Amino acid sequence: MSLPDIRTPLPGPKAKALIERDKAFVSPSYTRGYPLVIERGSGVTVEDVDGNVFLDCAAGIAVNSTGHSHPDVVHAVAEQAGKFLHMSGTDFYYEPQVRLAEELAAIVPIKGGVRSFFGNSGTEAVEACLKLSRYATGRQNIIAFLGAFHGRTMGSLSLTASKAIQRRGFGPLLPGVYHAPYADCYRCPIGLDPASCTAECLDFIEEQLFVHLVSPDEVAAIIVEPIQGEGGYVVAPDQFLQRLRELTKPNGILLVADEVQSGMGRSGKMFAIEFSGVEPDMIAIAKGVASGLPLGVASARAGLMAWPPGSHASTFGGNPVSCAAALATIKLLRSELVANAASVGAHLLAGLKALADKHPLIGDVRGRGLMVGVELVRDRQTKERATDERDAVVLAAFQRGLLLLGAGKNAIRFSPPLVLTREQADIVIRIFDEALTEAEGARR
Ligand SMILES: Cc1ncc(COP(=O)(O)O)c(C=O)c1O
Repeated sequence: MSLPDIRTPLPGPKAKALIERDKAFVSPSYTRGYPLVIERGSGVTVEDVDGNVFLDCAAGIAVNSTGHSHPDVVHAVAEQAGKFLHMSGTDFYYEPQVRLAEELAAIVPIKGGVRSFFGNSGTEAVEACLKLSRYATGRQNIIAFLGAFHGRTMGSLSLTASKAIQRRGFGPLLPGVYHAPYADCYRCPIGLDPASCTAECLDFIEEQLFVHLVSPDEVAAIIVEPIQGEGGYVVAPDQFLQRLRELTKPNGILLVADEVQSGMGRSGKMFAIEFSGVEPDMIAIAKGVASGLPLGVASARAGLMAWPPGSHASTFGGNPVSCAAALATIKLLRSELVANAASVGAHLLAGLKALADKHPLIGDVRGRGLMVGVELVRDRQTKERATDERDAVVLAAFQRGLLLLGAGKNAIRFSPPLVLTREQADIVIRIFDEALTEAEGARR
């Protein structure tokens, strides 16, 4: 089978019919960038209901870490499903949840003992970190970063500062949340040269927030994405995270790493914060942890996670089938896929960077492992954001059988399953090249 293989106009007739039914009955709050209706998936390929085959660089928003329906994961899921589907790990005990907590303690970059709380999603992982930060410190305030995405339930939404539409109409949000500029070095928030800066954007916290708005001894936590995901796949330099740790520690402020998108091997290390050598106090994990089954985890230093029975729990959290999928996922990540993300990711990054020579639309190419972002601009000098062009490129790629997703106002993210091969990465680069050519042609 050639990859991709597009046989009908898109969307095809069956896809069209299903989309019509969706329109009538499903919440219109979802953001579908293009009309893909999946029938089945395998590895990095997705087949739609009309028999068209796509190469998937979206992975269900960076979730299908081991590829679609990896046989080891499917086997683990089926085996567990045959035993029992649910018992509620909050009220009873079962081995998959305990084993997963043990595994996480071994891979999370926090020294000493680690305990984990289980929920069902990224937002629940963040909520747990938020509540535990307040509980453990007895403080109320939280600092997050502009451009951050931490979820959409009311607590995590208060931390999210990605797109105004995500907050519009839902206020009032949680009080005591402050936002500081993120280290977006392509668009340095304070106009410095990344080559010579020392993360001066963090001065805002010490010289503005702590002076004018909130005393550091009343800040429970600072939450940070080591690589901003929805914000545009923006990679924070190591020194930004290192200085953040230096700033939090003496003030008794907890450092929470939101690795919902950047974690579980996607960056080429198990967790993206490991590049900086920084040890956070808590980590929020979800998306790729269970290859597509719903699971969210808040892992914390054991001494911190000392809240009493009844203080926090979730009926479905730590579902045994999800835990079984996570155990199979972690095994694959550790044995081969984290390393594959690092090597194939470097190949993909280099190939996409090379495209900048012929495509003036490309403003910046950045990323780590198989978490790569390309920011499109109308003019390299002014860096005017090319939002419409970005959407056109994503659509042109879809028409050619490559599934991509936008991120931020004008970036495109490449977040394929971590099983992507070099040869498949070359196909991705070729199709992206063609899609850029089409979008640039349409502008002339
Ligand atoms: C960094 C980060 N945190 C939290 C979330 C929320 O995860 P979920 O959509 O599973 O609630 C996301 C989702 O994209 C994310 O990227």
